[in-house]
Amino acid sequence: MNSQGCFITVEGGEGAGKTTNMTFIKQCLDNWEVPYIHTREPGGTELAEQIRELLLNKRDEKVAPTAELLLVFAARAQHLAEVIIPALQQGKVVLCDRFTDATYAYQGGGRQLDVSLIQDLEQRVQGTLRPDLTLLLDVSIETGMARAGQRGELDRFEQENIAFFNRVREAYLARAAEYPQQFAIIDAGKSLNEVQKQIKSVLAKRLNISNE
Ligand code: TMP
Repeated sequence: MNSQGCFITVEGGEGAGKTTNMTFIKQCLDNWEVPYIHTREPGGTELAEQIRELLLNKRDEKVAPTAELLLVFAARAQHLAEVIIPALQQGKVVLCDRFTDATYAYQGGGRQLDVSLIQDLEQRVQGTLRPDLTLLLDVSIETGMARAGQRGELDRFEQENIAFFNRVREAYLARAAEYPQQFAIIDAGKSLNEVQKQIKSVLAKRLNISNE
């Protein structure tokens, strides 16, 4: 637990069903009458949403991986100060669509940046603050890309190649293996009903709610 609140993050590769399942998680919290805020990364404040656009927009110029990493943490620093830390201090659940584990997966795994650089920035920007629970929606690259491909135009990350997404997935799974107390791996290749059963049970357990 962070202060009195609870910091819950949701992670996964492209097409893992984050958006649909986020809606389901919010319904669970509403039903259980748990006070929460819902936010996302990169983003969550006016400045951080502008940085998100810089990161996601396709551009002709090749973005240097280190520049990408620093933008991600610039957005995160603002998000923490303005939104996440105050909400945790008020005892709320903070439900965040992606956080620093995405940096380990995308900038560490995908872009192959030095992990120690990410660890340094994590320490400087967050101090000891880490998610209490991370739901990792894990799906095969084939299934994920097929689902994501049904959407409209692809952003700068979505247009990466299979090798990139394989590295992202492997990095997520490595994080989950390293921090089993924090992570719950959800098999997002199963039916929606099955996935939501898994999510509800993990959430109820972590929030000490009897899962009827
Ligand atoms: P999303 O809203 O679909 O999750 O898009 C956010 C994109 O930003 C996604 O492709 C992953 C990427 N991202 C990073 O590369 N590093 C990060 O630290 C975060 C939070 C997201």
